[in-house]
Amino acid sequence: MEKRGEYEVAIPCKCGFLEKQALENKLKFASIPKEFSGHTVENFRTDCYFSAENKELAEMAKVIARNYVDQFKEIQESGKGLYFYSSVKGSGKTRLAVSIANDIICKHLISAKFATTLQILDEIKSTWGDQEGAEQKLIQDIIRVPVLVIDDIGVERSKDWIEERFYNILNGRMIQKKITIFTSNCAVEELRLDDRIVNRIQKMALPVAFPNESVRATLARQENSDLLARLLG
Ligand SMILES: Nc1ncnc2c1ncn2[C@@H]1O[C@H](COP(=O)(O)OP(=O)(O)O)[C@@H](O)[C@H]1O
Ligand SMILES: [Mg+2]
Repeated sequence: MEKRGEYEVAIPCKCGFLEKQALENKLKFASIPKEFSGHTVENFRTDCYFSAENKELAEMAKVIARNYVDQFKEIQESGKGLYFYSSVKGSGKTRLAVSIANDIICKHLISAKFATTLQILDEIKSTWGDQEGAEQKLIQDIIRVPVLVIDDIGVERSKDWIEERFYNILNGRMIQKKITIFTSNCAVEELRLDDRIVNRIQKMALPVAFPNESVRATLARQENSDLLARLLG
């Protein structure tokens, strides 16, 4: 930082250390699970799906994700995010959503955050014993995040208090045109949530269908045979 008249201004340092530190802070803030850290859209695989139809769906999702990252600065103005859905677990929804967040942080230096719906609800609940206004402040903080991945929306059994909090978060983010990337095990119109929430998600995100196929087992098998080849070789 340097003092310039009334203002403190950040000046780029010659060695790039401050920029690197800023990037590291952004990655830490993102709280992306270790399983997914460092993954990018480019290393999202489309060869691990079984049928041609599923490969095609995965390829389409990857193209959308790649162009979304490339054109992020312009798209950000519109406030439109993405909604990845498929009824099968292990089809790569979280993997691609997190990769987009990683790429946005690294290529555009914009802050992103990852949270499952359960984590958001737990964080809200944890403010309940605190002083007045703590919950409101947390919700405002969640609304302010430039890019938020909300993982597994719609899987929790909804109660009134949950719907009210989600409505506040999504409505706030919609009004402020913040980017939200959702993953879910059902299509937007099938979400068992209040209509007001469903309407907001429809406005805030482009639905992208994922293959109804789990690649978890295929990938684990490949990893094991690679390891075996290495251990025997
Ligand atoms: N297309 C893919 N390329 C590489 N790894 C993948 C791909 N799809 C899924 N995986 C891996 O498989 C596991 C399950 O994927 P995940 O994204 O959690 O599925 P979902 O969110 O659809 O339940 C993760 O470890 C993920 O890294
Ligand atoms: Mg997932």
